[in-house]
Amino acid sequence: MSVKLLLSCLLLGEVQALSGNFWHITDLHWDHTYELTDNPELVCESSGTSPAANAGKFGDYACDSPWNLINSSVYAMKEILPDPDFIVWTGDDTPHIPNEDLGENAVLSIVGNLTHIIQQVFPGTKVYSALGNHDYHPKSQLPAGPNYIYNQTAMLWQDWLEPESQRTFREGGYYTEKLLSRTGYRMLVLNTNLYYDQNKLTVDMEDPAGQFSWADQVLTDAANDKEKVYIIGHVPPGFFEKKRLKSWYRSKFNQKYLDLIQKHHSVIFGQFFGHHHTDSFRMFYNSKDSPISTMFLSPGVTPWKTTLPGVVDGANNPGIRVFEYDTQTLLVKDVVTYYLNLTRANVAGGRWEKEYRLTESFKVADASPASMHHVLERIANSHCYLQKYYEFNSVNYDLTECDSNCRTDHVCAAREVDFKMYENCLKEGGAAAIHGGWLPILSVALSLVLVSR
Ligand SMILES: *[C@@H]1O[C@H](CO)[C@@H](O)[C@H](O)[C@H]1NC(C)=O
Ligand SMILES: *[C@@H]1O[C@H](CO)[C@@H](O)[C@H](O)[C@H]1NC(C)=O
Ligand SMILES: *[C@@H]1O[C@H](CO)[C@@H](O)[C@H](O)[C@H]1NC(C)=O
Ligand SMILES: *[C@@H]1O[C@H](CO)[C@@H](O)[C@H](O)[C@H]1NC(C)=O
Ligand SMILES: [Zn+2]
Ligand SMILES: [Zn+2]
Repeated sequence: MSVKLLLSCLLLGEVQALSGNFWHITDLHWDHTYELTDNPELVCESSGTSPAANAGKFGDYACDSPWNLINSSVYAMKEILPDPDFIVWTGDDTPHIPNEDLGENAVLSIVGNLTHIIQQVFPGTKVYSALGNHDYHPKSQLPAGPNYIYNQTAMLWQDWLEPESQRTFREGGYYTEKLLSRTGYRMLVLNTNLYYDQNKLTVDMEDPAGQFSWADQVLTDAANDKEKVYIIGHVPPGFFEKKRLKSWYRSKFNQKYLDLIQKHHSVIFGQFFGHHHTDSFRMFYNSKDSPISTMFLSPGVTPWKTTLPGVVDGANNPGIRVFEYDTQTLLVKDVVTYYLNLTRANVAGGRWEKEYRLTESFKVADASPASMHHVLERIANSHCYLQKYYEFNSVNYDLTECDSNCRTDHVCAAREVDFKMYENCLKEGGAAAIHGGWLPILSVALSLVLVSR
């Protein structure tokens, strides 16, 4: 081997050493009742009153995931990227069925089954795991203090949790650790189900389980220790992009979450959440309208068509996702989404394929907040990019046209996590460039108009 070639290999090795990757999977929602039968109404309990008209081995758009789909998704991860630096798993393991048909032990058994298959296929891989609102009985009623389910889940996940993490997890379902035990890097795993407006247990609380003050302290210490942090959780703040004015957090908690990110954004290099089952993202800006942080919302594995009133045909193809990141700076460099065309899989077997690579599809350099702001500007200002984004949003399930109402809903949800700002955005019809953007003069003019923010 020539000296020159050797040198270039060494250099390449060094460059590659800076690049790491991790899986993000979310919302697997295993429906253990799924069974292929001649009567479409009896295929799965999660379809409720709507029939599973195209049920097959890998599932049906009306149903949560059969075991074959769960198994297929975890083995696809192993085939595509067998040795990730770590795995992020953001919850919702149980089917959308009535509480009466589940129970504490049924929920724990399902969480246990999914934990087991991930551990079996990825032995020795570090998994950072957040609770979803469906990982509790009764669903969404996650308590702000110790309880049997947090205890048992901490046991199921004991191989993934350091002793101090076990302790805080038993107290409030949250934890923090050095990312991969590396000095200077940190993972913060939140239990944002405490902020969900469906959670009756936290309605009168200011800071359920003390999680906000704890996170504030963790992030303050991180700044003092010059650490870089990733945050993961299940229920995101802000609005659902598929239904106008549909938010998840109680208003006071939404404000507190936003305050937390704005205060500590300089140490936060990415936020990774689920719950929507769709593929989207949320921008965070500072008071000068500069992009300071991005929350990535990864698509779910379950194809289940949401029954949320007002959402038309809200199913999706099963999706899983790789984040590529700089291991020194934690900059998110790229996002690669893989998916299963469920219709085809049921006919021709399960073949997971690459859906898209963010930097290629949206022509940006990386997935930094500045780049994601460009992505949002492209979506807001070009129908071509809007349509592309829209098809990715349902993981290539809904290929209908995204009209101007649709554009407003998606653009405003991505741009404004704050409740008031979102409503202002709707009034403007998601007009371009309220936050900086390609027409700075218009932007200044608009922000003068919008003094009431
Ligand atoms: C899970 O998927 C793998 C890979 O496709 C396959 O070999 C295995 O038989 C599947 N297991 C089940 C229980 O379906
Ligand atoms: C799920 O776990 C239970 C034990 O909790 C076990 O009996 C059952 O066989 C598991 N199911 C699958 C599909 O792994
Ligand atoms: C949780 O586990 C701890 C010890 O592991 C025990 O002391 C405590 O009573 C348990 N709490 C509940 C609510 O199960
Ligand atoms: C999914 O597969 C079906 C059946 O083969 C096909 O008609 C459809 O176009 C495919 N969808 C995409 C997005 O490729
Ligand atoms: Zn879910
Ligand atoms: Zn959820």
